Amino acid sequence: MSLYKIEVSRLTSDEIDEVMVVEKLSFAIPWSKQAFIEEVTNNKFARYIIAKIDGKTVGYAGLWKVCDEGHITNVAVHPEYRRNGVGFMLVRNLIDLSIKEDIARLTLEVRRSNIPAQNLYTKFGFKVEGFRKEYYADNKEDAMIMWKENAI
Ligand SMILES: CC(C)(COP(=O)(O)OP(=O)(O)OC[C@H]1O[C@@H](n2cnc3c(N)ncnc32)[C@H](O)[C@@H]1OP(=O)(O)O)[C@@H](O)C(=O)NCCC(=O)NCCS
Repeated sequence: MSLYKIEVSRLTSDEIDEVMVVEKLSFAIPWSKQAFIEEVTNNKFARYIIAKIDGKTVGYAGLWKVCDEGHITNVAVHPEYRRNGVGFMLVRNLIDLSIKEDIARLTLEVRRSNIPAQNLYTKFGFKVEGFRKEYYADNKEDAMIMWKENAI
């Protein structure tokens, strides 16, 4: 149970600088600010959400809607706010959003070593369905491919 009140909303372009702080603290190969601007302003397949606590940006997540599939691109939580249910809220909101948009199944890639994220996704019923060998350029780590059927 979180002690914080976590608020989730659609990410707007005004909030990208705050998301970049979380991004840089969370990933070995962070996306550029320009990539986020493209996602939020130009990519009609993209859906991004942001999580805040007392007005502070603590996380974000996104997916691409490709036909009736949702490809989760990123889920990240500020290190100082992890283990407070923010990641859970973000994935819960992505799933709710995907059901509203008639997305039948969700997929994502996760590093083999990333146990926190794997546990998070497993909580929602994601299952490992395959691997991509040496998918991550920084350390040639394999990606696990996870899928979840939406009950729509
Ligand atoms: C993965 C991540 C998003 C989890 O966010 P979080 O806000 O800490 O997660 P929550 O507090 O909501 O935890 C939800 C569940 O995730 C799992 N989990 C989260 N952190 C974990 C950890 N350090 N070790 C093991 N399981 C963990 C647990 O199953 C947890 O449920 P529980 O609290 O009932 O045990 C966060 O660690 C993060 O931003 N990591 C860096 C970016 C990243 O790897 N993103 C995923 C890319 S695929």
